Amino acid sequence: MTHPVDLDAWKALAAHHDDVKSTTLRDLFAADDARFEKFQLSAAGLFLDYSKNHITEKTRDNLVELAEECQVQSRLQGMFDGDIVNPTEARPALHTALRNRGDKPVVVAGEDVMPDVKSVLSRLRVFTDKVRDGSWLGFTGKPITDVVNIGIGGSDLGPLMAVEALAPFAHARLTMHFVSNVDGSHMVSTLKKVNPETTLFIVASKTFSTQETLTNAHSARNWFLESEASDADVSKHFVALSTNHEAVVEFGIDADNMFGFWDWVGGRYSLWSAIGMPLMLSVGMDRFEQFLQGAHDMDEHARTAPLSENMPVMLALLTVWYNNFWSAHSHLIAPYDQYLHRFPAYLQQLTMESNGKSVHIDGSPVTCATGPVVWGEPGTNGQHAYFQLVHQGTHLIPTDFIMALESLNPLGSHQDLLMANCFAQSEALMMGKTKEELRAEMQEAGASEEAIESLSGHRSFSGNRPSNTVLVQQLTPHALGALIALYEHKVFVEAAIWDINPFDQWGVELGKQLAKSIHQEIDVATTVTSHDSSTNGLINRALKLKNLLA
Ligand code: F6P
Repeated sequence: MTHPVDLDAWKALAAHHDDVKSTTLRDLFAADDARFEKFQLSAAGLFLDYSKNHITEKTRDNLVELAEECQVQSRLQGMFDGDIVNPTEARPALHTALRNRGDKPVVVAGEDVMPDVKSVLSRLRVFTDKVRDGSWLGFTGKPITDVVNIGIGGSDLGPLMAVEALAPFAHARLTMHFVSNVDGSHMVSTLKKVNPETTLFIVASKTFSTQETLTNAHSARNWFLESEASDADVSKHFVALSTNHEAVVEFGIDADNMFGFWDWVGGRYSLWSAIGMPLMLSVGMDRFEQFLQGAHDMDEHARTAPLSENMPVMLALLTVWYNNFWSAHSHLIAPYDQYLHRFPAYLQQLTMESNGKSVHIDGSPVTCATGPVVWGEPGTNGQHAYFQLVHQGTHLIPTDFIMALESLNPLGSHQDLLMANCFAQSEALMMGKTKEELRAEMQEAGASEEAIESLSGHRSFSGNRPSNTVLVQQLTPHALGALIALYEHKVFVEAAIWDINPFDQWGVELGKQLAKSIHQEIDVATTVTSHDSSTNGLINRALKLKNLLA
């Protein structure tokens, strides 16, 4: 195969980078009054300003040529059509079918999957409506007040992020809890807050074999049975979301209480399936459908918009541009919306588990950098923590600002201040402050020449640091659906360009295997010699300190 670095468009971009690398963002804006109009896009209710990037129209053309050479459009269509886009697990990746709102069939292995998708959705509606309206009763006849989702990775991060993001629409009686960590403190501290008579446990696991989730689920069931409840009451308080019918039944959850999905739904793409149950319970099925609609609208945009007007494609191309041509391997997500406080963590799994790969789809080693490190916190908190490094550090960190314009909790001037901070940060990152500007400012404030001289290096800003800004009117279910789908497709397009498989995650397996064998060794509690000296030393020291060694 041709590696991306050998493509004509890649080589053209490398040469173009040499031409433009010393032109500053200030220069670009000074040279073109229409820059904001030229580098913006709208889709599915979202607005993207990508003008504060190190790009010219030629850069965009070259990037689009790269996308064309990498057959991004037909690869996207192939994903929608159910092609085997995950060859190492011989599967399609059809999260888009879960939010396919029309009557269009989606055929997998000769069969339309839509009737099954719709039938699970209607079962979910019946069940979640009952819990919400209080007619689903616990073992002592009381309505459910607390829901504990037990899952990890995609079976936790997506639902947790979305429940938090749509908190203003939450059901008044239902409190949602999420337990993911196998650290017993996570489960114990959660159980302290709930009552077995009125708690619903959701065991969410695609495979139903994840050690952390099963351990937590067993502990939750033991806790439940230590109350007045009997084995027969488990069915009123435990439901499972999984693709593994057999394992669910073996665990002791009624098949009637299982809501299934399919192996063609990747774990980190499963929020749209039954795994979204916490969100359905919290905001109701009608709003969940608006959420699906938002994602579907973004799907249609991603599938049909020309590459140069395609929002996820453009975001992906910018990441490739910085990651591969500017050596910027870190990407900051800065949502200026408190309700999106788990969005960066969610995007970390989506992007880093998908595109943290070192081999191409055919198994050959990659010859270019792949997925960047993704991180972030909501603004304005980040400003008072790590933005120092983003403004004045030595790393170039492209940033995505995400801003919901209308607050769902209007309070005095808070929202205007939030917005002002968001726009100020991207301006400051781009414009910086020259030594001359600083000098003028300090002179005006009456500073001495000596003070100006000694501080000018510290207090000036190079600027020239790129960012995107995504605006949304209000963080509604529709907007959230569109926003998540935007990033899902962005990740897919990046993978298409790097020619890697974004749908497998073999990198997490080795640690799981080793944890299993070390767990057995801890259980046996004799001096361990089977590992390297560091690992042996740590295990033996732990056994000794816990007085477990004979
Ligand atoms: O450890 C990685 C992973 O396999 C993720 O991809 C997945 O989202 C998570 O574990 C949980 O898996 P499951 O839903 O099967 O419990």
